[in-house]
Amino acid sequence: MNNSYAVYNGKFSSLQDIKISPLSRAYTFSDSVYEVIPFCKSKIIAFDSHISRLKKSCKAIHISTDIQKVSKEVLELINNCGHDSGYVYFQISRGIDPIRSHMFEDNIEAETFGYVNEFFFRPQNLKVMICDDLRWQRCDIKSTSLLGNIISMNSAKSEGCDEVIMHKNNILTEGGASNIFFSDDECIYTPELSKNILPGITRDILLQELSKLGIGFKEGVYKINDLKCAKSAWLTSSTKGVAEITEIINLDTNLTKDHFLFKKCSEIMSDIYFS
Ligand code: PDD
Repeated sequence: MNNSYAVYNGKFSSLQDIKISPLSRAYTFSDSVYEVIPFCKSKIIAFDSHISRLKKSCKAIHISTDIQKVSKEVLELINNCGHDSGYVYFQISRGIDPIRSHMFEDNIEAETFGYVNEFFFRPQNLKVMICDDLRWQRCDIKSTSLLGNIISMNSAKSEGCDEVIMHKNNILTEGGASNIFFSDDECIYTPELSKNILPGITRDILLQELSKLGIGFKEGVYKINDLKCAKSAWLTSSTKGVAEITEIINLDTNLTKDHFLFKKCSEIMSDIYFS
């Protein structure tokens, strides 16, 4: 039983006490969006950016929600969960249908759900697999419809991997639950923002810090072959921070461990989380 501190439609309780309707569109259609908001040593990482992305996700699929109320609920979960490091999962669905129907009723009320989990942020080394990006054409929306990611990540798991690197017709997109970075000895590269990737908040924090420090990076369109020639590669996300890729099981690479550009990025993110 999971007794995490949780909230459902504004009511706080233990996660195990929440009852949901099977006609929730989150359940029948994945008609919902979400955020994962990390906090470390009682510091919330990029709270405003997460709330603003959640607002954008709702807007993109025309869910109207009271974002101030959502912000307060996220803060309440963090402040009163009894943990000093962890993350909040917060989901907003279109609501509960009177009967399952693709076309939703206009007056349906949004359904909100969140819980907080204790989590310890620590450096990770990742073994990954390259795979076809099976997803839809609006990966910039943080939707809970994640079947493409799930199929790929679980076939990677069966090969002993921790994550995937996805590509669409040879163009690198992102990880299964993360953004991709790689470098040579001079510069850091990451796929540019488009509808094919999630605008990761960790990605954004890292790019802003690199800019401030005058460390060279380029956002662009990159191919599998660019990764093949890379000296270092890593994935970023709110829960992984900056995690180094040590092996790509289905690609011959020249990756070196603890490359100085990866180490710099890892230090930057450690400062953001732990200082
Ligand atoms: N996932 N791309 C995808 C597909 C993701 O699912 C995530 C994060 C990211 C990184 O975004 P951010 O830096 O804002 O966390 C990129 C979260 C952590 C998850 O689904 O659990």
